[in-house]
Amino acid sequence: MTAVVLPDLAAGYDVDAVRSDFAVLSRQVHGRPLVYLDNASSSHKPRQVLDAERAFVEQHYSNVHRGVHTLSQEATDCYESARATVAAFLGAQPDEVVFTKNVTECINLVAYSFGNAAPGSPFHLGPGDEVCITEMEHHSNLVPWQMLCQRTGATLRWIPLGDDGRLDLTDLDALVNERTKVLAFVHVSNILGTANPVEALVHRARTVGAFTLLDGAQSAPHQRVDVTDLGVDFYVLTGHKMLGPSGVGVLWGRKDLLDAMPPFLGGGSMIETVQMSGSTYAPAPDRFEAGTPVISQAVALAAACDYLQAVGLERIAAHEHALTAQLLDGLRRLDGVRVIGPETTEMRGAAVSFALDGIHPHDVGQSLDELGIAVRVGHHCAAPVCRRYGVAATTRASSYLYNTAAEIDALLEGIVTVQDFWRR
Ligand code: ALA
Repeated sequence: MTAVVLPDLAAGYDVDAVRSDFAVLSRQVHGRPLVYLDNASSSHKPRQVLDAERAFVEQHYSNVHRGVHTLSQEATDCYESARATVAAFLGAQPDEVVFTKNVTECINLVAYSFGNAAPGSPFHLGPGDEVCITEMEHHSNLVPWQMLCQRTGATLRWIPLGDDGRLDLTDLDALVNERTKVLAFVHVSNILGTANPVEALVHRARTVGAFTLLDGAQSAPHQRVDVTDLGVDFYVLTGHKMLGPSGVGVLWGRKDLLDAMPPFLGGGSMIETVQMSGSTYAPAPDRFEAGTPVISQAVALAAACDYLQAVGLERIAAHEHALTAQLLDGLRRLDGVRVIGPETTEMRGAAVSFALDGIHPHDVGQSLDELGIAVRVGHHCAAPVCRRYGVAATTRASSYLYNTAAEIDALLEGIVTVQDFWRR
């Protein structure tokens, strides 16, 4: 592969140097400089990621694991090297990393695999068993478990939200109990920004022998993640929120579990032997990568991991922390603004949801767009959270490694402009 030049920020966090790698950040929207604060939805991609994908497709592309010719071997090497890079990014081993399409597919994979388990298997669920999630889950970590419970007769429980935008753990021991087979929860909420107490939740799950799945869609892009330290059984992430392309996700799972779990999708590449009367299945990760996998997307995701490592996950987290503090402080000073979620930076990510008195979030989003400011409005695929806090929708600003203090000021000024306009 052609070597890509990664940013050298050894001297400190240079946001301008980071920004120079993202062409889109210098464009204008409605005649104003783009202020992109919709990163929790999808991030932009630096030229190093685009270059890596292009170089791979132009020079090495072929199908993988299927050919003896040179390109097929090179493509296989690039694909497996991408797996090793992503594994290292997570503090894991390559054969524990399954490439999928996105987080939604990762969670469905686990839920369907469990649903395919025969009675007597540790993964089998039936009437009397329970799955526990939380009230702050994205629909992707909610609906697959509802469906699994419907198919198996198991019962879905959830840890409720408190008024402060955090989980209310008062009844944790009752909710995660000897009947619980799976505890699945989000690391950092996409709508509230809340960072959950992983250690306490994993401890409780382990005490009762439940499997744990952590949704890392909003953590992997923003902080150093070590799956061994987290102590979970499964961790999932998606490429497009962490400078990578859309169409690639990662399921990390404990190897002993992945090797023992029944397949989800059947087809080419996931088999060991095939006869007309039946088949046996390859060990993980191949067992869960039926068909031609997401080849060039995986290569680009690995380049995104390299980029994030070069900038430094700790520095990114510190930079975002400062922006989040600035935004929360600014919102606190404005009249008619309600933050939906934790109001301090403690145990919190960079997504900040808020409501403006008397102005519908969709109007807020459109008016901000006219000022060149991109935020997301809606229920953020977490409708129960909106219901819990009595709002139909929120406006959400979510910053990332390339956002600046000036952009947070622009958002705060934009909110005042929107309030003045809609209250006239
Ligand atoms: N999960 C993404 C979001 O929160 C799409 O915007």
